[in-house]
Amino acid sequence: MIVGVPRESFPGERRVALVPAVIPTLAKAGLEVVVEAGAGAEAGYLDADYGAKGAKIIPDRAEVFRVADIVTQVLCYGSNDRTGKADVPLFHSGQVLMGFLRPLGSAETIQEIASKGVTSFSIELMPRTTRAQSMDALSSMATISGYKAVLVAADTLPKMFPMLTTAAGTLTPARVLILGVGVAGLQAIATARRLGAVVSAYDLRPAVKEQVQSLGARFVELAVEAKDAQDARGYATQQDEAFYRRQRELLGKVIAEHDVVITAAVVPGKKSPVLVTKEMAEGMAPGSILVDLAAERGGNCELTQPGEKIVHNGVTIIGWFNLASTVPYHASQMYAKNLTTFLQLLVKEGKFQLNTKDDIIRETLLTHGGEVVNARLREFFSMPALATKEEAQK
Ligand SMILES: NC(=O)c1ccc[n+]([C@@H]2O[C@H](COP(=O)([O-])OP(=O)(O)OC[C@H]3O[C@@H](n4cnc5c(N)ncnc54)[C@H](O)[C@@H]3O)[C@@H](O)[C@H]2O)c1
Repeated sequence: MIVGVPRESFPGERRVALVPAVIPTLAKAGLEVVVEAGAGAEAGYLDADYGAKGAKIIPDRAEVFRVADIVTQVLCYGSNDRTGKADVPLFHSGQVLMGFLRPLGSAETIQEIASKGVTSFSIELMPRTTRAQSMDALSSMATISGYKAVLVAADTLPKMFPMLTTAAGTLTPARVLILGVGVAGLQAIATARRLGAVVSAYDLRPAVKEQVQSLGARFVELAVEAKDAQDARGYATQQDEAFYRRQRELLGKVIAEHDVVITAAVVPGKKSPVLVTKEMAEGMAPGSILVDLAAERGGNCELTQPGEKIVHNGVTIIGWFNLASTVPYHASQMYAKNLTTFLQLLVKEGKFQLNTKDDIIRETLLTHGGEVVNARLREFFSMPALATKEEAQK
């Protein structure tokens, strides 16, 4: 079977789906790799490196799609809402597609992919289980975003992060607050600590308190308790407006005490909760920085301009998207490892096997045989259930 790696087409995207190092592993599973010329260049992986590991380089993008039994991308049509549509005519029936598809974004888009007869896998829907951990690309990208958010903040802050005692006096350390302690938040804590900042963090899931403290940060406790804070998959649940209002009241004072606030609070499939209102941001000292990692989903700060950096009353608010793409070498390395592990599960002795009894395969499978077959997605978009389970699995 042939695995195709087209060049990413989303403007500014620098990652690539597979890196040369994984090609021998794929070959062992009976998979040949074809790469669109230049696909890894922006991430630091040259055509010659792919060639040296046994991949074939093809200059024509359409040809990559034509020969590939399995297409691997970072941003597939769905998550690539700018240029992804151009790939649709290149899909062929029976082809497998995997990557970020933003499954809860648009029902029409997923339907369009289904209508091409493509068997698509949304890497965002990877279950949060121990067995799936090495295939969890969301965690890989969140790790990089959390790290980079701190560097962006440190670079913009008119202060140093560490405490220094010098002949010219003592410099106090920067005070950093992380709101939302998932994978990105944890990495942000670790990175800010390494730079010498004094770090505090808050999450509505009390389960993270220990993790925060183990990284040397203070856990901020608010006098408001979330109802069923965490679902069975470990994600935060949506709370009512009274909770969010009380949360904001209590957070206002905490935020004002910090030089840097990094927000990474997300509820899957929902608009991000507003944790920092305009007034709260205005309460921060001039020169302070807020990096909003939830910007793509509406933002955790009311003033965030998605995709932009603005200065409001002397406070810089950064709502850049896709920070993982700004560290493309390691982001691609991690992503390629995640996809390769997933491919090893799907392809046995060179044959693609759609074993929907496996929860990893079943939960990530979006479309097959012309239909949207993912039960969670059908429920989310209020689509009628498929006639029988057997039909869905054909
Ligand atoms: N394989 C695995 O077992 C596995 C893999 C990845 C993540 N996880 C766990 O899953 C959990 C979610 O991680 P994630 O990075 O995907 O999270 P996420 O990106 O969905 O959300 C980020 C954080 O925002 C928090 N949040 C949401 N609303 C909030 C609010 N109003 N106030 C404060 N915080 C709020 C969430 O609790 C979460 O910690 C974590 O505990 C993580 O360790 C487990």
